[in-house]
Amino acid sequence: MTTTEPTDEVATLCEKLTREEKLRLVQGSPDPEGTATGYIPGVERLEIPPVRLVDGPMGVRAGGFEEGLPATAFPASIALAATFDPNLARRQGAAMGREAKARGQDVVLGPGVNLIRVPHCGRNFEYFSEDPTLASALSAGVVEGLQGEDVVATPKHYVANNQETDRVTVSAEVDERTLRELYLPAFRAAVEAGAGSVMTAYNRINGTYANDHRYLVREVLKDEWGFDGYVVSDWFATKDTVGAANGGLDLEMPGGSVADAFSFDASDEAGGKDEDHPADGPPADADFDLESVATGGMPGPDQGGVFGEPLAEALESGDVSPDRLDDMVARILGQLERIGLLEGVEATIERDDRGGALDTPEHRDLAERIATRGTVLLKNDDALPLSDDDRVALVGPNVDAATVGGGGSSAVTPFREVSPLEGLRNRAGEVSVARGVPEIESLSFEDLLPFGDDSDADQDADDAPEPTVEDAVATAAAADVAVVFVRDATTEARDRESLRLPGEQDALVDAVADAAERTVVVVNSSGPVELPWREDVDTIVEAWYPGQADGDAVASVLYGDVDPAGRLPVTFAPEDEYPITDERRYPGVDDEAHYEEGLFVGYRHFDDADGEPTYPFGHGHSYAEFEYGGAEITTKGGDDTETTLRVPLENVADRAGREVVQVYVRPPDADGPERPVRELAGFASVELEAGETRAVDVELEERAFARYDEADGWTVDPGEYVLEVGRSSRDIRSTATLER
Ligand code: GLC
Repeated sequence: MTTTEPTDEVATLCEKLTREEKLRLVQGSPDPEGTATGYIPGVERLEIPPVRLVDGPMGVRAGGFEEGLPATAFPASIALAATFDPNLARRQGAAMGREAKARGQDVVLGPGVNLIRVPHCGRNFEYFSEDPTLASALSAGVVEGLQGEDVVATPKHYVANNQETDRVTVSAEVDERTLRELYLPAFRAAVEAGAGSVMTAYNRINGTYANDHRYLVREVLKDEWGFDGYVVSDWFATKDTVGAANGGLDLEMPGGSVADAFSFDASDEAGGKDEDHPADGPPADADFDLESVATGGMPGPDQGGVFGEPLAEALESGDVSPDRLDDMVARILGQLERIGLLEGVEATIERDDRGGALDTPEHRDLAERIATRGTVLLKNDDALPLSDDDRVALVGPNVDAATVGGGGSSAVTPFREVSPLEGLRNRAGEVSVARGVPEIESLSFEDLLPFGDDSDADQDADDAPEPTVEDAVATAAAADVAVVFVRDATTEARDRESLRLPGEQDALVDAVADAAERTVVVVNSSGPVELPWREDVDTIVEAWYPGQADGDAVASVLYGDVDPAGRLPVTFAPEDEYPITDERRYPGVDDEAHYEEGLFVGYRHFDDADGEPTYPFGHGHSYAEFEYGGAEITTKGGDDTETTLRVPLENVADRAGREVVQVYVRPPDADGPERPVRELAGFASVELEAGETRAVDVELEERAFARYDEADGWTVDPGEYVLEVGRSSRDIRSTATLER
């Protein structure tokens, strides 16, 4: 709905608010307490409390970019997706909601639901999958969890923000059908799950900035999907007052321009201006990080600050109607009312006791559970599980630190974190250790902030001897099994230049594999990476960025205390075989990235090209072993009812294990528009005891059979559909057919 239908209370408030007060509600301002990422001052005379918005998708980052206020650091969103379990997503959303309230925050700026189109994207760790069905299920789960705690969820970044290179200017040139079938579904699922807000992206879509995109924001999001919450900009993303207001943006964050945000306070109290501190711009000595601006990763000094006074002028001139301003305010107040913030001063005062909880045993256990459930066993030639009497050599440049997350606005400061070294020692007692190669530096946001502090952090004179591969080889050779930890390093605002592991890690793995009796490699990556040594090692575990529980989670998987239940939410393949190798497609030419691959992203591409991925979408081994019976359709579905597929599953191993039963739909061979060979339609993650047999039901929404037709909308072509049931997109165990 282009204009929301406010409740009587909100409508009454809107009538009482002055123009000035309304303008203050639609543009952020600095949080006087300094804990929020974004802040809206309240209107005390009308008992409208201030509102605090906080990052991010992997935990609550209150208190700013430096050492933020601690909170539970959940695993990367791609690890949550690898669990294929929306219930875990819902539980994480609820836990983040409780932690947000405990920090006095009202809105969480997450989940990140952009599709993983480009394997190099610096924010893939913050997103879920290359597949819209999986991304939608996780998106809805996190949103339901957050909103269930009376905290506003903010799925982001609407839409087609699939790369960090030139993210503040690039135009995603993408056709309507591809938008509908791939890039929009996870946002639609979030709206259907009750999200109170949506954050627009920095980039353009088909030439128009997301903030100003009347079609996508007003016609699709608000009118067609019936979204009645508020649309918030990304930080300093806005450029055009009238374009944004009339395009459907309701709230500009953080308020003010980049230059304002970093300008020197010239007031006498602050010491007054001097030649090094001009009043209206960044400090003269600030080192505007041209690199990040050069990659277009960060908004420029003149961005932001288009609401406030410029909006007042646009209202005066009639370029923006007063009704539009009222709708902005009603949408924001409507969400405050929904989460109980308009219940008068008492509620406001008591809001610190809005059921918040921080760093509870439940949250710690959940962070570890998601990390173990999201761990993917890519290959296992019987080197795992480890036995208690194995002599273990722990190798790797970063084993002394947990891989909590990546760089950027999602970074969470945990209360505690467990490194691989600590986790292995907790589980196994003594292990020998060798770093092998120099530490792989994490990338942090501070390096990329527009006026980043360019003073090199004092490299603490680490007098420890440089690690050597020779030392690692000797340590590995003296053990029964070598466990080598390798990682990539990524951040918001910058893409990876290669899918190869940084530094000399590949050489380290090669050398250890030559010498060790058994070699297990644990990969901590943001998404797909090249694994050139994969034939030379016994076992490969993809653990993503596991969050605070890192060492304990990976140790419990390595020793088989828990079954590695993760399945790949993205395809792993040789870097030059992804469908974005043409620079027109990525990173784009003349600031336009052409999504010419259309629907054929990820496994859809490799199936269409008959390619051989290194490890396919949905892949992941279990320590147990499962046999599939013949699938049968127990509910035919159709129109708006779901189809149910029943799959007999047996765990034929002598230990418990977890299986993700996946169902793919193959459309009828029709002469109509080209369609992917198969598309994920539904899935179920189930745990079976040794020897247990269970009939697993998988629900398929009707839209799983549909394609989007620009003239007719969602269309289910008549004909025979094949339902493929399997362990991955390339390991189909049984099929069933369905007429439509
Ligand atoms: C950033 C990010 C967005 C984040 C916001 C606030 O630039 O793109 O995801 O929520 O700013 O930190």
